Amino acid sequence: MGNQDMSVCGNRSPIIVALDVPDLRTAQKLVDELHPLVGFFKIGLELFTAEGLNAIETVKAAGGRVFLDLKYHDIPNTVKRAVMAACSLGVDMLTIHASGGANMLMAAAEAASLAPHPPILLGVTVLTSIDAEALYSELKVRVKLEEHVVHLGKMAMKSGLQGIVASPLETDRLRHALGNEAIIICPGVRPAWAQRDDQKRVATPEKALSLGADYVVIGRPITKAHDPRGVTTKILQGISKYRKEVKDR
Ligand code: C5P
Repeated sequence: MGNQDMSVCGNRSPIIVALDVPDLRTAQKLVDELHPLVGFFKIGLELFTAEGLNAIETVKAAGGRVFLDLKYHDIPNTVKRAVMAACSLGVDMLTIHASGGANMLMAAAEAASLAPHPPILLGVTVLTSIDAEALYSELKVRVKLEEHVVHLGKMAMKSGLQGIVASPLETDRLRHALGNEAIIICPGVRPAWAQRDDQKRVATPEKALSLGADYVVIGRPITKAHDPRGVTTKILQGISKYRKEVKDR
């Protein structure tokens, strides 16, 4: 990374790259290009469904850490057994839909606690592609979006999870409600110069981190770029510059 600030690189990088790609070849290329600039790679539904365990192996073999984002949402026993299976794969982070309820979340936490190296369990609150209108008219949730997110976040933490996934726009509120122990991860992050795609509730990486996020998940602005490494470097430079400015204030 040349003369870059190492506090934003490798395992200390606040960027998690979402490997939302169709096959192993594309994933491998991105991992080779981006590790060790970033430490964490998110394997989601598309890549895992297409390539299964090979996707996890690809990231681990390159020295990267695996965020398995399958957003489990089922009856407690099924989720418990799925979490046990995920733990045996040696993943570092795992997502569970908080809207599956407290019993399901506790079953997930119990399963992880039995593993020799438990992954960080994260509750997904409200997807960043859902806005207030969709939450109200499609999902028929009658409380404000922010209130619902905080409710789900509190339930996830109370049930034994270590953190949550939420929009940057709710991060400030969540940090206050959940305290410093909770790990907050924000997707729906876009550098000011990038397209929004289908994300509705977005913020820049600097903004999300300043509001209390521990990590930001970034997919398409990096994976669809002509030069993924160049784009990642540019984003990390922005974060590093912002952190220096805050320190010098
Ligand atoms: O390409 P983009 O940066 O929009 O990718 C965001 C990633 O974060 C996707 O993999 C998506 O599944 C995930 N995600 C999200 N909103 C959530 C939870 C996860 O966008 N609430």
